[in-house]
Amino acid sequence: MMNSFREYFTYRNGKLYCEDVSLEEIAEEYGTPVYVYSSKCFIDKFTQQDKALSNHPHLICYSVKSNSNINILRMMQEAGCGMDVVSGGEIYRAIAAGVKPEKIVYAGVGKTTSEIELALTTGIRMFNCESLPEIERINMVAQSMNKTARIAIRVNPDVTANTHHYITTGRKENKFGISMQLLPHIVSAIKNMPYIKLIGIHVHIGSQITEVEPFEEACNKALDVMVKLKAMGMDECTTLNLGGGFGIQYNDGNSFDVARWATIIDNVIKDKNIFLIIEPGRYISGSSGALLTRVQYKKKTDTKTFIIVDSGMHQLIRPTLYQAYQHVANVTLREGKEIVDVVGPICESGDFFAKDREISYTMQDDCLAVLSAGAYGMAMASRYNSHPLPAEVLIEGNTHKLIRSRETYEDLITRERV
Ligand code: LLP
Repeated sequence: MMNSFREYFTYRNGKLYCEDVSLEEIAEEYGTPVYVYSSKCFIDKFTQQDKALSNHPHLICYSVKSNSNINILRMMQEAGCGMDVVSGGEIYRAIAAGVKPEKIVYAGVGKTTSEIELALTTGIRMFNCESLPEIERINMVAQSMNKTARIAIRVNPDVTANTHHYITTGRKENKFGISMQLLPHIVSAIKNMPYIKLIGIHVHIGSQITEVEPFEEACNKALDVMVKLKAMGMDECTTLNLGGGFGIQYNDGNSFDVARWATIIDNVIKDKNIFLIIEPGRYISGSSGALLTRVQYKKKTDTKTFIIVDSGMHQLIRPTLYQAYQHVANVTLREGKEIVDVVGPICESGDFFAKDREISYTMQDDCLAVLSAGAYGMAMASRYNSHPLPAEVLIEGNTHKLIRSRETYEDLITRERV
């Protein structure tokens, strides 16, 4: 199964296309910087995982945090996706996109009282709970609203996954989840909370994990926990939420083997009365997007050639925050190659997309595409240095539409009071 970042962004006669649309035309029509997304990629990735799990009752909850544009959420919702949310704002977005409350699961270590109220008013499927004080608060809020809150306990399986230390979450030193040792204590506390109904177990071990084994290990540990909970009288605990974290290809390396993963999960949970949930974000949105940016200057110094573009760390922070590789492609292929730093306009040396990278020969005014930027790109963008946020364009076949207009200078100051 191909998961290449090049799959939906291909060259035709030396010009880069997304599906059947020329990206140079997009850059001309909408200006740069602009995020472009392949709707086919979004749907295909969801369908791959959905089909792979077809042996079991399941729900795929797209992780809103990876790319939260309401048009994307609506498209995924129409394809049958549920949503994984982590804030009141994401609940609001999901509902505005038409997602049914019973398809929304809500995680996060810091849920506030008003967010819990919103979740209960909305009637979401379940809370993924990360601590005893959180469960106590949910119980209190539910009592005041005379509602029952369905929850899953997020267990910390203490699994090591090979990824960047900022995005591992399933180790015991991370802030996430509840340790296995604490479970009996939590369960006896829950037995005294009449407004809490424990319906499942949640694990999420990290992000951008390309190997299957850590998921297998986490799944086995979660199942052990479910057996123990049953023994403690928690009969309704039948939902197993395996979280997200399925990696994609950013370079010519490994990508996640969905078929193998599904076979393993099949083996582990077959014949068990389990409703399965997964929360993929990057797997669905990552390869679906690219950031188009135009070369402003080509600056040569004694030691380097800098390609200075009109986007940077403020609009795609992954290279500098996680030392992440993001592939840079010239939208118009030219003869020859050169080794360059691709950098932005921000007044920080950490403002780069690529360092000492060999890319196809580039000239001033060329348009570059930073690939695999659909996940945690726009979602983590800021207005640092007072650059208005970029536009977003959704491509479908040979058609394209603006799904977020470029911000203006006026937008930058509208909330400021003088
Ligand atoms: N479920 C939970 C509970 C999560 O914390 C996350 C991501 C996901 C699902 C979705 O993970 P995914 O399938 O997208 O890997 N900004 C970082 C990634 C942070 C991930 C945070 N949690 C990056 O750009 O690499």
